[in-house]
Amino acid sequence: MIKKTLRINGVDKVIVARSDDTLANVLREQLGFTGTKVGCGEGQCGSCNVIMDQKLIRSCVTKMAKVPDGASVVTIEGIGTPANLHPIQLSWMVHGGSQCGFCTPGFIVSAKALLDQNPKPDRAQVRDWFQTHRNACRCTGYKQLVDAVMDAAKVMRGEMKIGDLAYKLPKDGQIWGGKYPRPSAVAKATGTLDYGADLGLKMPPETLRLALVQAKVSHANIRGIDTSEAEKMPGVYKIITHKDVKGKNRITGLITFPGNKGDGWDRPILCDTKVFQFGDAIAIVCADTEENARAAADKVKVDLEALPAYMSAPEAMAGDAMEIHPGTPNVYFELPIVKGKDTKPLMNSAAHVVEGEYYLQRQPHLTMEPDVGLAYFDDDGRLTIHSKSIALYLHHAMIAPGLGIEPEKLRLVQNPAGGTFGYKFSPTMEALLGVACMATGRPVFLRYNYYQHITYTGKRSPFWMKIKYGADKHGKIMAMETDWSVDHGPYSEFGDLLTLRGAQFIGAGYGIPNIRGKGRTVCTNHAWGSAFRAYGSPQSFLASESMMDELAAKMGVDPLELRAGNVYRPGDTTPTGQAPEVYSFPEMIDKLRPLYKAAKEKARKESTPEIKKGVGICLGIYGCGLDGADSSEVWVDLTKDGVTLASTWEDHGQGADAGALGTAHKALSPMGITPDKIKLVMNDTAMAPNSGPSGGSRQQVMTGNAIKNGCDLLLAAMRKPNGSYRTYDEMVAEKIPLRYSGKWTASMNTNCDLQTSQGSPFAVYMYGLFMAEVAVNTKTGKTAVEGYTVIADIGKINNKLVVDGQIYGGVAQGIGLALSEDFEKLDKHTSLLACGIPYPKDIPDKFDIHYVETPREHGPFGAAGVGELPLTSSHVAVINAICDATGVRIRHLPALPEKVLAGLKALK
Ligand code: FES
Ligand code: FES
Repeated sequence: MIKKTLRINGVDKVIVARSDDTLANVLREQLGFTGTKVGCGEGQCGSCNVIMDQKLIRSCVTKMAKVPDGASVVTIEGIGTPANLHPIQLSWMVHGGSQCGFCTPGFIVSAKALLDQNPKPDRAQVRDWFQTHRNACRCTGYKQLVDAVMDAAKVMRGEMKIGDLAYKLPKDGQIWGGKYPRPSAVAKATGTLDYGADLGLKMPPETLRLALVQAKVSHANIRGIDTSEAEKMPGVYKIITHKDVKGKNRITGLITFPGNKGDGWDRPILCDTKVFQFGDAIAIVCADTEENARAAADKVKVDLEALPAYMSAPEAMAGDAMEIHPGTPNVYFELPIVKGKDTKPLMNSAAHVVEGEYYLQRQPHLTMEPDVGLAYFDDDGRLTIHSKSIALYLHHAMIAPGLGIEPEKLRLVQNPAGGTFGYKFSPTMEALLGVACMATGRPVFLRYNYYQHITYTGKRSPFWMKIKYGADKHGKIMAMETDWSVDHGPYSEFGDLLTLRGAQFIGAGYGIPNIRGKGRTVCTNHAWGSAFRAYGSPQSFLASESMMDELAAKMGVDPLELRAGNVYRPGDTTPTGQAPEVYSFPEMIDKLRPLYKAAKEKARKESTPEIKKGVGICLGIYGCGLDGADSSEVWVDLTKDGVTLASTWEDHGQGADAGALGTAHKALSPMGITPDKIKLVMNDTAMAPNSGPSGGSRQQVMTGNAIKNGCDLLLAAMRKPNGSYRTYDEMVAEKIPLRYSGKWTASMNTNCDLQTSQGSPFAVYMYGLFMAEVAVNTKTGKTAVEGYTVIADIGKINNKLVVDGQIYGGVAQGIGLALSEDFEKLDKHTSLLACGIPYPKDIPDKFDIHYVETPREHGPFGAAGVGELPLTSSHVAVINAICDATGVRIRHLPALPEKVLAGLKALK
């Protein structure tokens, strides 16, 4: 142990700590400065940044032994407070710098250190600074963060008044369509928002700390589990195995489709007979400290019989492969697509035929916050589980039978989440927390380190795809043939639905009249497939939007003009035979055309034999909702202080609070309410009804409509015959109900037929055009994205800050998907860096978004969703641009430098 005196945020503190502990732990756990976040815990993300003796440091890798006695340390709490915001914090809020907000304290502290040394940086210097100091953000795409620093610096230099930086309500009082900062922005910018790990530190002392015993192999039979030695380890309270689970010990995947050969009960909570993938949980150690729990977990002995591991769809489909789930074939779901006429004769007579094979990799989500949760019995005797769930009521149904608990005795709550991007559409640790709490009767807390977070949460499922187009002499595509195999890992949840996405989105955007194809879901031993932003469409568009460029090249026509001749126009239908609800693409192409021509010209002028420049384009589409008659419910209450809106519009960090508030404020505007009088109650199944999961860009449409409905009902009740509105007191005096249940169902939708994939699954779609400008270094094979342009039609815009942020951030993930991201090698892809997360300079600062706001009939106030759109196909624009620059067509992603170099060599 060591004793040191540190000046923390200007106050001298005597500290007694272990010399090998980190400064981050001491700040957070001993001193309560939980504004300093720990993301990666290994020096790769900057979430834990503090300023020590005027130098920016990463406190998660700074041991107390290295902290000088007397050092001054500035944390986010020392920079500003909610009542006294620093200009950098205010600037972060008004520029939409915080989405999930987990990276925000680290960035703001970093920006403060920069501006202390260089009060007038240019944009390039800000980007250099963040890059050099390894500040990573997975949500924003970085541009807004640079904007925030530039404006904060102006205020700090006295060139701008802080009042001019602050958000001002427009004269008409409307926030719809504007840049109202999200309600959680102050807490995020000041480090006062408690995420799961912060809540864990603030739990009562009797809370048990959990650690998992996890499989270190990908496929095995379990012969025995010996906990005897581990039980004798210090601090151990109990070790839990499958024998302690009261229920079915399975998480149900809620099989959605007939024809699925599995029964949906394939995922154990705690493994009993088999290990199906690396990291599978075999036992839980409950102890007094996390350290003791982890030490004891290492002593649990698991006797395994190794089995062959099938780490890709082709391996698991091979004739001699054993069944991973005995009794269920590895190919457990097959789905044909049949639209229009037989394609064979059409292919034979087509003027132009192109075909190709493509592979999209297992993309990791790389949230800044690792998975975390806690559980306890509340005073009403309900097992209460807090997690990062973005599907509270869905997870409730998925885990209750496995736990063996009555549904009304189970309550789920979402903590503020430091990003999910869809991995939390799956239950991750919820059932483990529930089992531990039920088995011990004590509050429990579980936190994955970043290694566990990467290796034991779901990933985007790879698709292996074949595609063929037959076009007439003008380039109009008359026929398409497709084949796609989905590597969905060992657990079936939503795998059939994902396979349907291939039918819905391969070839989407073009009115192709005749389609034949087949998709299949394959069980493998690699990471289980979970939702990821734009679920199923990045795979689909890699095939159809690469093929479009290949067709253009074969015909010798411009890729934009080939698309212009094929995009949806009245009379065309989607691959599933649905008439699009709007026909935005022709107008969007007209908007893009001059920008595209200018970019092409610039690339041509700037290209050299060493640095070849090119421009790539593509289109992307996604539906807003769950297929078919998706629905949502909210409660709207009139209170003495205003209106309370209760919903389970879960927040990945995308801005659920801003979405709910903006919609409710617009709907309630006739009563003249100000936004601060609308209180949001969110994401607790004991306090809000089922608004459905936050996935598939459904919430703005489904819950937005439910909010509008609830607000309309309240207004109708409040309205007096003279058109004015009753006050709360008048409503009470007249005994008029104060609570209204707002509901909406997309009853106009139809599910896709499982023999043909034909149907009208979504009432509202989002449409996008993407253009990437790249520079490829022909010596190293490295691709830099130098510019990016998006033309988006997401209907009427609720909150501009939020939708801009979604698009910048989603495209950044698309650039990562194109160039660097992967989770393939279990011994390599185990950190942010190794998995290829884009840092600030990997994302261009020249990044423009243009909107076409076509109102949607079925969207509330004309709005569609947004979150999925930017990752539908933004990666394909980069891949197409590499080909434009060099002639190298990358068909197996990511486009790592060695693949580009190999392509260049092959061309020679
Ligand atoms: S760098 Fe410290 S938490 Fe990532
Ligand atoms: S806002 Fe940066 S990681 Fe979420």
